[in-house]
Amino acid sequence: MGKVIQMKGIVKSFGNIIANNRVDFDLREGEIHGLLGENGAGKTTLMNILYGLYSPDAGEIYIDGNRVDIKSPSDAINFGISMVHQNFKLIQSHTVVENVALGLKGTGFFFPARTVERRIREFSQKYGFKIDPHTPVWQLSAGEKQRVEIVKAFCRNAKVFILDEPTSMLTPAETGELFKLLRLLRVEGKSIILITHKLDEVLEVCDRITVLRGGKKIKTVDINEVNKKDLASMMFDQEISFLGRENRMRKVDKDIILEIKNISVLSDKNLLAVKDVSFNIHRGEIFGIAGVAGNGQKELVEAITGLRRTVNGNIYILGRDVTNVGPREILDKGVAHVPEERIRMGVVPSMSLEENFILRSYNKEPFSDGLFLRYDVISNHAKELISRYKISALDEKSPAITLSGGNIQKLILARELTISPVLIVASHPTQGLDMKSIQQIHELLLKQKEDGCAVLLISEDIQELLSLSDRIAVMFDGRISGIRNTDETTIEEIGMLMVGGGDRV
Ligand SMILES: Nc1ncnc2c1ncn2[C@@H]1O[C@H](COP(=O)(O)OP(=O)(O)OP(=O)(O)O)[C@@H](O)[C@H]1O
Ligand SMILES: [Mg+2]
Repeated sequence: MGKVIQMKGIVKSFGNIIANNRVDFDLREGEIHGLLGENGAGKTTLMNILYGLYSPDAGEIYIDGNRVDIKSPSDAINFGISMVHQNFKLIQSHTVVENVALGLKGTGFFFPARTVERRIREFSQKYGFKIDPHTPVWQLSAGEKQRVEIVKAFCRNAKVFILDEPTSMLTPAETGELFKLLRLLRVEGKSIILITHKLDEVLEVCDRITVLRGGKKIKTVDINEVNKKDLASMMFDQEISFLGRENRMRKVDKDIILEIKNISVLSDKNLLAVKDVSFNIHRGEIFGIAGVAGNGQKELVEAITGLRRTVNGNIYILGRDVTNVGPREILDKGVAHVPEERIRMGVVPSMSLEENFILRSYNKEPFSDGLFLRYDVISNHAKELISRYKISALDEKSPAITLSGGNIQKLILARELTISPVLIVASHPTQGLDMKSIQQIHELLLKQKEDGCAVLLISEDIQELLSLSDRIAVMFDGRISGIRNTDETTIEEIGMLMVGGGDRV
């Protein structure tokens, strides 16, 4: 098989961080090539270089054997390389059609909307992706936006597709559909680079795998030569144990921290997204919510954190009615929030780490004396969090946007936990994290539980829900289709409830 892409001796540094250290990488025609490595290993950087977003400090790139200079993404697109980014780059106020059209060659401003729309529809039908071309992007869920990104890349007729953690926002069923599509593209002779932290996925769909660690290439291997354990030991320098379902002592208090009583919430489209939902979360309890994205979880979380009004029902925190009081007051009641869309809602990308750490508390002691900010306190606070949460960053003055995806998530968690919350609302807190960081986050949440915090955990990872939660509720079509004690349920039962089978509460 011919080599479509060869990258030789790629070097890229940011200040004194060497993100890529003489990396060799090659991609064959008609293969799915997994790119693995822990958070901050240099995966996105390497692909940004291939896509013309960064120019390397040293190294060469060959396409079909010819040395090329890729100076910008439009060069890359001309060479037939397309990239779906880890963090969305869609224009919020535009519709799906408009966003896809902007990515196409020769469409410009006066794109033939109808042609683009037809291509989106054809694509949706051929590959089973459901997308309404006329919805403005801001109304889409994270999973839906991810799909628009993929359609956009695919509509460019690329021969090389770079997908940076495409499945982190997809449900298992959507991931299955995506893989079906990748296999079809492979048959057509296209090449795919797939970045993911999920080893099962890599083993399921890839032909070859390249592992990076600390900016260096460790190895490229054939899928038949390795198992999960081999991959993990290539990725990390220490042994990783795979967490199964744990039989921990589930100690739950009877004090109620959060009480949700018959609440209904509208979606952005003014449809009922949450329908008459009720549940309680106790002190020291992790309450999991399972469900396929788009079944009301996002709206429920926004109602609880004060970002969206309820049309019916009541929300109580420690017995106080906090229905529709707004986000500031919810925060003052001690509610921490780890949002679903980190870049858009969780951090201010252009601001430094230290500023991001105090986003929610800059006007309070000890960061402010009422009039002025105390810069030394703020800076020490940031240094402390960076070391405690093992956030890999140049220093506390770096803008948040320079962090790798996983490290941004750690930044948000670190910030949210410093308010000593009574309740943590965590939406997909481990999405996009490597196994070591996932363990770290799980331990943090369990420690909070032990300290008496209540946790609302929204996740699509059933394994994660089973290993952390005391009880699991499943959302389907805006309602809770069942609540189960974790010790008394199974993956199969939760799965049934996720597709609408089961009782109504
Ligand atoms: N624009 C930038 N400025 C400064 N440092 C950067 C920049 N981009 C990346 N880095 C640093 O380079 C290193 C590699 O980052 P990269 O984003 O390539 O990691 P990654 O393997 O994609 O990680 P993740 O799995 O968390 O997404 C990190 O230490 C990161 O902080
Ligand atoms: Mg990355």
